[in-house]
Amino acid sequence: MNALELSGVTVRFGGLVAVNGLSFSVQDGAIHSLIGPNGAGKSTVINTITGLYAPTEGAVRVAGRDTARLRPDQIACAGVARSFQNTEMFGEMTVIENILIGAHRQARHGLFASALRLPSYFRGEAEMRRRADELLEMLGLGRDRDTLASALPFGKQRQLELARALASSPKLLLLDEPAAGLRSAEIDHLNRTLVRLRDEHRLTILLVDHVMKVVMNISDRITVLNFGQKIAEGTPAEVRADPEVRRAYLGDRPDRARAS
Ligand SMILES: Nc1ncnc2c1ncn2[C@@H]1O[C@H](COP(=O)(O)OP(=O)(O)OP(=O)(O)O)[C@@H](O)[C@H]1O
Ligand SMILES: [Mg+2]
Repeated sequence: MNALELSGVTVRFGGLVAVNGLSFSVQDGAIHSLIGPNGAGKSTVINTITGLYAPTEGAVRVAGRDTARLRPDQIACAGVARSFQNTEMFGEMTVIENILIGAHRQARHGLFASALRLPSYFRGEAEMRRRADELLEMLGLGRDRDTLASALPFGKQRQLELARALASSPKLLLLDEPAAGLRSAEIDHLNRTLVRLRDEHRLTILLVDHVMKVVMNISDRITVLNFGQKIAEGTPAEVRADPEVRRAYLGDRPDRARAS
């Protein structure tokens, strides 16, 4: 089954067509990348999958289910989590508090139990804290647990953004430029983390990024957008060799296309 399917999705903003008749599928358990020049429509695709924007035409299916009638919070509850292109977190909260906010969304105990502080609330709370600590370890933030988010260096803020998305235990993770601004060692760490999430946790990942060292190294498949339209799709090797992709996106500069 496909974790995600877009068929004929068009998104218009007034006269501007940001996404134009886009179809692609993301296989369960795959890392699928969406690349393309600035303004190609990549973030708009993510915002449409999460229900922030409604497609003007076409359909989005998550695990086979049409999301047209679902609100963003219902899509999140269906197992979709995302990170933002610009880091968005609660700077005046600690690292662990930021993660617990992400986890609360998906908490197993209902709103009712948490309002009344029933025993199931406390069990759920302890379980969430245990999971949050596990996530911090995985992302190399174990020692930063009680640091204010705003005091973290940039690379760790991006890790926290990822941890927060993971805290809701999603099945489908949408990442908007997670490698932007990271240093080389941080990019290597990100690559290892994403591969682990796929291989050990069976997470499906839709990845948007300009950093070829991530995209070309870890993607199972890549879809290339230009002016809102799909211009190519395939394995990293196929996409890298595609003449239209090189012209439109890679600027036919082989040094930018190579995954070092
Ligand atoms: N809410 C909006 N209202 C109006 N126009 C928008 C809106 N969001 C995006 N656009 C426009 O849609 C087009 C696609 O934008 P989008 O942000 O999806 O591109 P992108 O591929 O993510 O680019 P980048 O690589 O720079 O992040 C752009 O022309 C942008 O100006
Ligand atoms: Mg974008």
